[in-house]
Amino acid sequence: MIRSLGYTIYTGKTVFKDLNSFLKKQNYSGYFILCDENTLKHCLPTLITQCKELKNAEIFEIESGESSKSLQLCSQLWEALLSYNADKNALIINLGGGVISDLGGFIASVYKRGIDFINIPTSVLAMADASVGGKTGIDFAGLKNTIGTITQPKGVFVYPPFLETLPARHIANGMAEVYKMALISDKVLWKKLKPEKNFNQASVIKSIEHKNNIVKKDPYDKGVRKSLNFGHTIGHAIESVLLASGIDVLHGEAVVIGMICEAKLSFDKKLISKAECSEIIQILSQKFPLVPLPALLFGEIIKATINDKKNNKLQIRCTLLNRIGKYKIDVTVSPDQILDSLEYYNSLNA
Ligand SMILES: NC(=O)c1ccc[n+]([C@@H]2O[C@H](COP(=O)([O-])OP(=O)(O)OC[C@H]3O[C@@H](n4cnc5c(N)ncnc54)[C@H](O)[C@@H]3O)[C@@H](O)[C@H]2O)c1
Repeated sequence: MIRSLGYTIYTGKTVFKDLNSFLKKQNYSGYFILCDENTLKHCLPTLITQCKELKNAEIFEIESGESSKSLQLCSQLWEALLSYNADKNALIINLGGGVISDLGGFIASVYKRGIDFINIPTSVLAMADASVGGKTGIDFAGLKNTIGTITQPKGVFVYPPFLETLPARHIANGMAEVYKMALISDKVLWKKLKPEKNFNQASVIKSIEHKNNIVKKDPYDKGVRKSLNFGHTIGHAIESVLLASGIDVLHGEAVVIGMICEAKLSFDKKLISKAECSEIIQILSQKFPLVPLPALLFGEIIKATINDKKNNKLQIRCTLLNRIGKYKIDVTVSPDQILDSLEYYNSLNA
């Protein structure tokens, strides 16, 4: 049990007991479970069996994938909530990966000026990262997470056995955030992850604790929370540009490229030693498949880093590493330096 910003994160095999007591205490007027076709098939039956209170819940099934984080889908979901007479005392239950928690959190946070929601993350990425911290949102105008709110869930219920049906590509995708967490805040975890062949639930739980400690100190992203952006300025830009060009890439895969580029920038800015930079890049390239980046898209990627919502006055600002386990926020980086780092990344694949 981990205390967060006004709510509790429950982890382990007994979370449904905690969920049952949570629901009994709250007396909600109705339950709306948001899931996609995969979590409907693999996770919903367990949830309903373990939590009888939810047997009459309305199920909203959406198509899996990033393209569901759209305004159009939000408007369909708000219409559906209205058609079921969902009032201010209704509860939205986000059963899925980060797409579900971002989207469901967002629709809940503004429907009737805000109704309660809880997250039941079912992917590594959602457990280790997306379900905690209150960032909700959708993509807009081809840019990731451009519209959203910071609204905390009323509870997070992490049931690790859900990961048994998660495809290997999505396990690796989520582990990217666990490696990031180690790089910014936990050298001991980084050392443990180095030899790890497969994924390990304990490192996911450790990652949740780190994320929670960071967001508790800075819920609104003004200071220490920016540490979580390591790998993400370039990673988000790559993700947006590749997706817009019809190239299939997952968030974590783009973040791995972002971390490699930003580790290189950390070295170029004399923040980390050559030895640490090489170690990071070597481990990341061993553990994760390196997605090739078409050089033709570099211009678009740099443009997208300039548009990144983390920037101030159109200056590109990154969170870089100051050593393994330590970070430095708001480091100004020039478009040319970004270009160098992208070229460097591609040279690793050559
Ligand atoms: N709000 C935040 O703080 C935050 C942080 C990081 C990432 N994100 C967002 O999270 C999203 C990515 O999350 P994701 O990788 O979980 O994506 P996702 O929600 O698309 O899930 C990945 C895939 O796994 C499937 N899946 C999920 N759980 C499963 C299970 N138990 N068994 C079988 N299949 C399962 C899903 O249907 C989907 O096909 C991105 O939109 C990203 O922007 C948000």
